[in-house]
Amino acid sequence: MKDGFGREITYLRLSITDRCNLRCRYCMPDEGVCKRAHDEMLTEDEMISAVEAAASLGITKLRVTGGEPLVKKNVLSICRRAAAVEGIREVCLTTNATLLPELAKPLREAGVSRVNISVDTLDPEKYAYMTRRGTLADALAGIDAALAAGFERIKLNAVLIGGFNDDEIRPIAELTRTLGVDVRFIELMPMYDGGDFSPSAYIKADTVLEKLPEAVPESEPDGVARLFRLPGAKGRLGLITPVSSHFCARCNRIRLTADGMIKPCLHSPAEICIKGLTRDEMAAKMREAVMSKPERHDELSYSERSGAARNMNRIGG
Ligand code: GTP
Ligand code: 5AD
Ligand code: SF4
Repeated sequence: MKDGFGREITYLRLSITDRCNLRCRYCMPDEGVCKRAHDEMLTEDEMISAVEAAASLGITKLRVTGGEPLVKKNVLSICRRAAAVEGIREVCLTTNATLLPELAKPLREAGVSRVNISVDTLDPEKYAYMTRRGTLADALAGIDAALAAGFERIKLNAVLIGGFNDDEIRPIAELTRTLGVDVRFIELMPMYDGGDFSPSAYIKADTVLEKLPEAVPESEPDGVARLFRLPGAKGRLGLITPVSSHFCARCNRIRLTADGMIKPCLHSPAEICIKGLTRDEMAAKMREAVMSKPERHDELSYSERSGAARNMNRIGG
């Protein structure tokens, strides 16, 4: 369905858990999440009812997110049931890949067609530092498993962090040639409790183009990313610029958090609860959420933090 500004809303991002096996410094605190009572979170049946309600309003694409969706025990069942909902054409998933060695093939068999994988550095020590408890080798094994499982158009996401990985732009971008996957650099979004980054941590995605002057622009954007290509590369290079240049005019999505809140906009505190409702009631609330989607979010900067009022692990990106 169309929102109040004529944008066709076709994409639901469904966060199935706020838990994660890593603790990326820009995403969540070291101590993790405070354990929530079971009955505060959506059940699997409620998630599927929500997907059915969304599909009845014209949602065709579902992205399963977290936290880390693969730490959720019933992730395969959720994906399988969601993929079978009439009207849902695509079930995708965003993951840190560390659990993909065991789960890539079963996810593919459950009907997940695409995975986007977060990896911010190719240096094992820096990876351990940024994720506070992850091992780069596990993430790389997960990427291999995803390639072997035959997912379509795999995308790697690297959050750009000044003084941390701006010296790795070329080696990370080279993965578009060596692995043939898409690589997207994302500007660091100043979330609610985004951690201990100084102003210099925020660097514009255009820095990537300064470091890769041979990158050739592609004509059409892909979702939230502006696209480029390194000569001869199979994979494309994407720049996601929520801070330097917002892309709200082409926003096509709403979000559902693991505790049952519809978020019409990532950077707004507005949330609409659908926990405990029937499928038809959920559809009515979703319609309300789509109609209340703001035209754009407020400016983001180091001093003007996101209005989201949640850490990223409780939204799912
Ligand atoms: P595709 O389906 O492959 O286009 O994936 P995607 O880019 O929609 O999803 P992904 O989970 O890979 O997100 C990539 C980055 O874009 C993450 O850092 C998200 O937080 C960010 N992102 C996704 N949607 C939005 C949005 O509506 N607004 C903003 N500001 N950032 C977004
Ligand atoms: N800014 C930009 N991207 C972020 N992600 C998590 N937190 C932030 C942030 N503050 C990214 C993850 C993952 C995606 C879902 O969101 O790295 O790729
Ligand atoms: Fe986990 Fe992803 Fe957040 Fe890192 S960015 S802590 S992998 S949810």
